[in-house]
Amino acid sequence: MPVISRPSPGKLQLARPLGIWITGVTASMNSRNFSKLHYLVAVVFCLTLSFGQTQAAKVSLDPSNWGSEAGASCLDCHRKASPGIATQWHDSAHGAAGVNCLDCHRADPADDDAMEHEGEVIAIIVSPKDCGHCHSTEFKQQQGSVHTDTLARMEHLIPTLTGTRGNSPAVSTGCSQCHGSRVEVRGDGTLAPDTWPNSGIGRINPDGSKGSCSACHNRHGFSRAAAREPGGCTGCHSGADSPDREVYAASSHGRLFASNKDRMNLDSDQWVAGRDYAAAPTCVTCHMGAAPGLKGTHDVGLREAWALNTPVSEKQSLIVFKDGDKREWPASRNPPRRGADFPKADGTIGKIKAVASPKTRRKIMTRVCLECHGKGFTTAAMRSFDALVKQYNTQYGEPARAIMQALYEKNLLTPLPFDEKLETTYWELWHDHGTRARHGAAMQSPNDTWWEGIHRVNRTFHDHFLPQVRGVAGDEITEALIREHLGQDTETGQSSSTEPFLGYGEGKTGHE
Ligand code: HEC
Ligand code: HEC
Ligand code: HEC
Ligand code: HEC
Ligand code: HEC
Ligand code: HEC
Ligand code: HEC
Ligand code: HEC
Repeated sequence: MPVISRPSPGKLQLARPLGIWITGVTASMNSRNFSKLHYLVAVVFCLTLSFGQTQAAKVSLDPSNWGSEAGASCLDCHRKASPGIATQWHDSAHGAAGVNCLDCHRADPADDDAMEHEGEVIAIIVSPKDCGHCHSTEFKQQQGSVHTDTLARMEHLIPTLTGTRGNSPAVSTGCSQCHGSRVEVRGDGTLAPDTWPNSGIGRINPDGSKGSCSACHNRHGFSRAAAREPGGCTGCHSGADSPDREVYAASSHGRLFASNKDRMNLDSDQWVAGRDYAAAPTCVTCHMGAAPGLKGTHDVGLREAWALNTPVSEKQSLIVFKDGDKREWPASRNPPRRGADFPKADGTIGKIKAVASPKTRRKIMTRVCLECHGKGFTTAAMRSFDALVKQYNTQYGEPARAIMQALYEKNLLTPLPFDEKLETTYWELWHDHGTRARHGAAMQSPNDTWWEGIHRVNRTFHDHFLPQVRGVAGDEITEALIREHLGQDTETGQSSSTEPFLGYGEGKTGHE
């Protein structure tokens, strides 16, 4: 039930369930006064509607394909063997629609992880591909998203932590729980404990599909309402890699959500910002959610203009391939053309269907803001965020990166990662503090932007990074590097005649 009814006719039109609307179009097509104009309007609205998730979950499989009797027998036992699971399922949309245990857990005997269980062939893992038999749209969007690419990116970016330490307990109970693992199947169809259980967002499943739908849709409830809450994201999006739980909680938006949760209409069939709720935006609103004229998506990376989790941030285009795969592409490099053959992230070649520039991606993101804010406000807020990222880049990220590169080139640092203190300091500079500052500015937490962010970046840079560079390279080389990359003679900042908080100038006559 919508909490908000807006008098805007265009929007009300969009709010109609698809079925009713199509009936309306058919009626007008049958009538004599149906004109070309009507037809055009119909097509445009139809497109917009198919973009919006504006009705009960669409299911791509015919109901005659589920609800088998063999599946009903699972319940007889599992009401006793695992009553919690049976209850969660019973209370879920799947329970209500008669999608039973076997409809999801059924396996092909040829599957790696197939096992015989009480007369049926089942698998423990119900992969995104399995869900995709019935939810093909969500499956396609999820498979092509940055979420499912995370293992490959992680292994490429931090081989030390992921490679040499391999399946260590710290990785399987830490990194893998958020990022995912390569799930290994043992001879009897059971899953290797150091690779499972986890619901990592980019887990590689025995059937080759990636990720886990239960990362956000906790089993066996699989509810939309729960996934719309910030808690559906912040289990992973917290801490140094992605401090969004802290950032959001401190922002106006997070505080409004906390005090208005009962006005968020989380159970609604459709959940269009500004129409079905307006009290506060959640993570989902901005990164996945629908707004009038904007479709919801299971690709969380689509609306990101920047790469924020890098030593130096760069704007990025999104390359979309014909088969739905995607690849990020730095905006500073010439974007490839539509229709061209181009290497995908994994090295294989694909045909390009579309390229979304950072500007387009930003436009999609701000479409959501405009439901609750004015255009000038939104543009100014985004401009301040962009300016902070640029300040971080030029003042800290770029000089620090250039100095590190120079030290490796001069063989003043060994290629062995994290064996020298300076390497850890550099990591803390851009990753722990720099990421927090940038996320803070993107999502409006002044504390994370400044005290936990830039303030710490600045201190790490001047109090630890540069002194350690001096220790490694000596005064002469360090001064030359500072001149070249910071454009000044020493690393100290400007001076003033007084600094009352430090006591400087306080004792002199003429000062208060
Ligand atoms: C990153 C978190 C996340 C992941 C991963 C995820 N979902 Fe969702 N899903 C959501 C959210 C949030 C919603 C509600 C969106 C809304 O209404 O704005 C949703 C909604 C849905 C819906 C209801 C759609 C409708 O028409 O209302 C289905 C079906 C669904 N997801 C299936 C899947 C499947 C299948 C997978 C795995 C391939 C998956 N989801 C993975 C977060 C996620
Ligand atoms: C005769 C009783 C019985 C029937 C029928 C039955 N199960 Fe089970 N199942 C169990 C018990 C007991 C366990 C728990 C074993 C354990 O503790 O690991 C179990 C475990 C499981 C597991 C977890 C396996 C693991 O290693 O963690 C899954 C998945 C499962 N059942 C699914 C099903 C499905 C799907 C059906 C219907 C095709 C089904 N079960 C039918 C009794 C049954
Ligand atoms: C909508 C699909 C779906 C349905 C219906 C479903 N499951 Fe599952 N089940 C899953 C998913 C997804 C997992 C998570 C596997 C993983 O990724 O590790 C799972 C995991 C399990 C597990 C192992 C994990 C654990 O927590 O022990 C058991 C046991 C299980 N299901 C039993 C059942 C039973 C019994 C039913 C019927 C009452 C059922 N499932 C219905 C999707 C489903
Ligand atoms: C199971 C853990 C997990 C959950 C749950 C999760 N994420 Fe993520 N998310 C990740 C990881 C890991 C990455 C990093 C992917 C990469 O860049 O390698 C990521 C990346 C992202 C990105 C960055 C995309 C980019 O362009 O770099 C966004 C935005 C995001 N997630 C939003 C969300 C939202 C919104 C939700 C909840 C609806 C959510 N995530 C739920 C683990 C998770
Ligand atoms: C609490 C969940 C969590 C844990 C634990 C975790 N990460 Fe992350 N990590 C994330 C999220 C979420 C992101 C996405 C940040 C973003 O894009 O803003 C991320 C980003 C990254 C990235 C940057 C990828 C990219 O393309 O943006 C790397 C590399 C990475 N993590 C490696 C690791 C490694 C290695 C470990 C363990 C030693 C680990 N992470 C532990 C959640 C986690
Ligand atoms: C055999 C078909 C089938 C399979 C397999 C299946 N679903 Fe569904 N799903 C449905 C049906 C039917 C509904 C109910 C649609 C409705 O009521 O509008 C539904 C509804 C949903 C919803 C919306 C729930 C809500 O709150 O209204 C989500 C989310 C969802 N499924 C996720 C999943 C995930 C994740 C998997 C895999 C683990 C999965 N489904 C597997 C058929 C299926
Ligand atoms: C009011 C809208 C809004 C809300 C609410 C919001 N975000 Fe964001 N988020 C943004 C914007 C804007 C950016 C920066 C986009 C860009 O790169 O241009 C961003 C960036 C991110 C990134 C960094 C992606 C990268 O480029 O590395 C992650 C991860 C993320 N958000 C996750 C979350 C999570 C998790 C939540 C909820 C706890 C959340 N966001 C709440 C708007 C929002
Ligand atoms: C669902 C409604 C909603 C959406 C969507 C939304 N906001 Fe907000 N936002 C608010 C409300 C309400 C406040 C005021 C909170 C207050 O007064 O404390 C706010 C506060 C802010 C503030 C703090 C400024 C101040 O005056 O204190 C900024 C900045 C902001 N929003 C930017 C954005 C951006 C950028 C987006 C889109 C990426 C966005 N908002 C999306 C409702 C929303």
